[in-house]
Amino acid sequence: MKKLLALFLVGVMTTCMLTACGSKETNGAAGSDAAQEEAGAEDVLADGVLTVGTNAEFPPFEFVDDNGEPDGFDIALIKAIGEKLGVTVEVENMEFDSLVSSIGSKIDVAIAGMTVTDERKGSVDFSSPYYEAVQYVIVPAGSEIATAEDLVGKTIGVQLGTTGDFIASDDIADTTVNQYNKGVDAVNDLLNGRVDCVIIDKNPALVFASKFEGQVVALDGAQFEFGVEEYAIALPKGDTALAEKINAALEEIKADGTFDKLVETYI
Ligand code: ARG
Repeated sequence: MKKLLALFLVGVMTTCMLTACGSKETNGAAGSDAAQEEAGAEDVLADGVLTVGTNAEFPPFEFVDDNGEPDGFDIALIKAIGEKLGVTVEVENMEFDSLVSSIGSKIDVAIAGMTVTDERKGSVDFSSPYYEAVQYVIVPAGSEIATAEDLVGKTIGVQLGTTGDFIASDDIADTTVNQYNKGVDAVNDLLNGRVDCVIIDKNPALVFASKFEGQVVALDGAQFEFGVEEYAIALPKGDTALAEKINAALEEIKADGTFDKLVETYI
């Protein structure tokens, strides 16, 4: 990240020298465009650190461990990738909804059980997919919710900015959608009776359902006609060199058995 700042400054200075610019803000903006063009060719790994954003509220993919550190399948996976690339991985825990917009500034890449979507592809690139998922519906034990039709008009809890949020907000008629920063808060409101159900990815749904066993049930999204989703690492747009390195590392990790071991350990 330090190198990015240096390049930015060089970009600003070069632009100023070439155009004999003063201190007006417009010139600053032009300088930053030039810096961004250069940053396209910049190697975010050159400083030996890969800064990775996550939202550690999504077990078993990411959660905060007993020592207050982010842990989980994704964290172990990106650390293994970092090892293959010979860089140190630094994890930044932040809100899920700000991950995509932080790539290229606060963080280099994001790993967060993030589903590849066309909308996100407008702002970031994705690595090869590494995991298949589907949205699940968590309902109170004994609930009559069982089909897509039963969700119409319901009050639905989701994590803000997730694909579960998009389904509840855009694809189901007449819903009231309660958006939470943490999935577990949605589940707590399900227990309190403030929402009728929670739409969240399969594996976290199963973790929450077993945490509150007897009180809630996690239903397979297939019975609600939810489609298959794919998780991938979100990358800076246009940095094909980085994408190639990360995909190659991912391939190696799959080929040498590390990936299966991580699945066994965490999922
Ligand atoms: N797969 C869903 C999405 O991409 C949810 C991901 C939530 N991840 C998290 N770490 N909280 O929108």
